[in-house]
Amino acid sequence: MHTAGLEGVFTDGERLYTRNSAPGTSVYGERLVTFEGVQYREWVPTRSKLAAYIRSGGTFFPLHADSRVLYLGAASGTTASHVADIVTAGTVYCVEISPRSFRDLVPVCEARPNMVPFLADATKPHEYSFGVSGVDVVYQDIAQKGQAQIFLKNFKAFSARSGLLVIKSRSEDVTQDPARTYEEARRQLQAGGLKVREIVRLDPMEKDHAMIAVML
Ligand SMILES: C[S@@+](CC[C@H](N)C(=O)[O-])C[C@H]1O[C@@H](n2cnc3c(N)ncnc32)[C@H](O)[C@@H]1O
Repeated sequence: MHTAGLEGVFTDGERLYTRNSAPGTSVYGERLVTFEGVQYREWVPTRSKLAAYIRSGGTFFPLHADSRVLYLGAASGTTASHVADIVTAGTVYCVEISPRSFRDLVPVCEARPNMVPFLADATKPHEYSFGVSGVDVVYQDIAQKGQAQIFLKNFKAFSARSGLLVIKSRSEDVTQDPARTYEEARRQLQAGGLKVREIVRLDPMEKDHAMIAVML
């Protein structure tokens, strides 16, 4: 096991892993591997778009050990738990609108001291601003129209400095060529004052999805 070249991300030469911050527990059925007394969780790129981004050649990686991350669309915590493994001295504020997914998210957060769950709507930052003091990074993965605008609203509300935005092309316009949808998102983010560092398509691991990496 050795570093994959990104902070907190490891590889055995073939698969990706993060250090398990809740040893003995698996979140979505991923394999647990112990190496030199440390337990790692396999990070599966067909289950997590952040792992798919790394596998697809994404290099802009704003997560550090002390990062405070606002994670919008946490679902049941698959990717958010890997983020929590990476930001060991930081915090992952997890926002999820679906009560059903939230029920599965809560025990994942309870097992990790640095994950805080909010049952809330990411289009309404005031619903969770009481518990989020300011963040370094916004990570967003919500399948809803207007993804770039929702991202910008949160980025500004919490004075973030960098971010990763998943764009699901079909959520914007099912009939439009995904490449045009990604360019439209780029324009909106730039018009909102952000620098777009990378746009990485996640196909075939995630069909018609791209990750847009941004900074102030
Ligand atoms: C594709 S899933 C997220 C998967 C997750 N990011 C992962 O990798 O483990 C999208 C999630 O966004 C949630 N969602 C959609 N609209 C939302 C909103 N306005 N506010 C918060 N969550 C939302 C959905 O309920 C769903 O759980």
